Amino acid sequence: MRATNGQVPRPRFHFTPQRNWMNDPNGLVYDRGLWHLYFQFNPEGADWGNMSWGHATSTDLRHWTEHEVALRYRDGEQIFSGSVVAVPVGFAAGCASAGDETLLTAFYTSAYDDGHQAQSRATSHDGGYTWEPDAENPVLDRGTSAFRDPKVIRFTDDDGTTRYVMLTVEADDRQVLFYSSHDLRSWEHVSTFGPLGDTGVVWECPDLVPLAVDGDPDDIRWVLLLSTNPVGDDANPDGSSMHSVIGSFDGVRFTADAAELTRLDHGRDFYAGVTFDSAPGGEAVMLGWMSNWRYAGAFPSSPWRGAMSLPRRMSLRTVAGAVRLVQQPVGFVGEFLSGAATSTPFGADQPGDFTLCGHSLVELAWDPASTGALRLQLRGDADALVELSHEPSSNVLSVTRGGAAMEAVHPDFQSTSTVALPRSGDRQLRLLVSLDGPLLEVFVNLGEATVSNLVVLGAGPITATLTTELPGPISVTVADLHVAEGRASPALAAALG
Ligand code: FRU
Repeated sequence: MRATNGQVPRPRFHFTPQRNWMNDPNGLVYDRGLWHLYFQFNPEGADWGNMSWGHATSTDLRHWTEHEVALRYRDGEQIFSGSVVAVPVGFAAGCASAGDETLLTAFYTSAYDDGHQAQSRATSHDGGYTWEPDAENPVLDRGTSAFRDPKVIRFTDDDGTTRYVMLTVEADDRQVLFYSSHDLRSWEHVSTFGPLGDTGVVWECPDLVPLAVDGDPDDIRWVLLLSTNPVGDDANPDGSSMHSVIGSFDGVRFTADAAELTRLDHGRDFYAGVTFDSAPGGEAVMLGWMSNWRYAGAFPSSPWRGAMSLPRRMSLRTVAGAVRLVQQPVGFVGEFLSGAATSTPFGADQPGDFTLCGHSLVELAWDPASTGALRLQLRGDADALVELSHEPSSNVLSVTRGGAAMEAVHPDFQSTSTVALPRSGDRQLRLLVSLDGPLLEVFVNLGEATVSNLVVLGAGPITATLTTELPGPISVTVADLHVAEGRASPALAAALG
């Protein structure tokens, strides 16, 4: 077996920068038919540093075109995470009536070399390609050292007026600070949320999204998104992770339904997820960075380092009596699968092996009562193994990445992620497994739980082995995404038939 160094295939249906280091998604905005993705980027190397905003655009959230760096670090100042809002030109100019034309305004953190962090503003007059920082920057400054990650959202009052709300963190204090503005210029501090949950972490990259429960427009809850990163000498080796808090928001104060952070993704590699401003239909579409601060700098991909997750549409669904945050990959993923072949193999008697090209979607549907425990193993040409397993008695799904090649990445890279699934009336289980080179994302039961992990399986094709305890039927659908044009082609091996 070969080692994987230098053998990490570039993802085909996820965004990666052509070269160099990338972390958080920044400034996500949909404007004039284009999805804009800015991202924490080092224009000069494959390690974190010289932080700037890289830029890419897409018409379909799948094919991305990378552009010139949008906001570049300067002497004494790095450009940390932030957001963009598309506002009507009339509004931006202070006119009462606003037309359809939009102006993009960015808010980002100026991280100064003297250790202080404050919020700055920039405007784009060419649809997001070039940016002019304000002469008065920083526009929001508390004189503190961990005040960062401004996310600007809209809030419409009962009388129909729109105001802007900026969420920022005081990262070390584990607090989200809320500011309010009518003109995107003057900001008033209106409330603070936190601290809460685990100590020994910093809070980063907040966002706040209104979502309808079970699609009911009269039952809107606000969901706070938050990323936490363990710090200090005894930092939790599991590293960084994302959380959500469901609650209510009156334009001033966010009130949590329960005073706890709920894990948003159960894998090790989903961080700094935020949503697009102005997405069509008001949908909440999120991108996350698929890595973990614990070992991000050690990941052996080259000449790029850092990838975005699949874009995920968020919603709220009542499952087993509780409201859960649901994340589903956007349209193109379902389209690939609907064009693919479905096969119904049987379990224990005949373990099913099938081959994936390694840029693949696999959908499994089965009834645990008739299959018993289920296991899906993925192997490539590296000395490594990914194993997904479901245990019906506990209803726990586990995702393990192990083997010498995984261990070689970093001492804390090998992992087993577990998620206790809700017991709902429907006994069928569905898993959507997306494997795109080193990016593994598992969506359980149409997004009720997700597990996202980096994996190093090698550069060649992947052998998938499906086994079950009892010979119950399992429906398996596979779509392989071959080469550049990436059209789905049915690829179930004959072994399954
Ligand atoms: C989160 C983060 C942010 C910061 C940025 C710096 O991953 O630490 O808090 O703005 O990355 O690159």
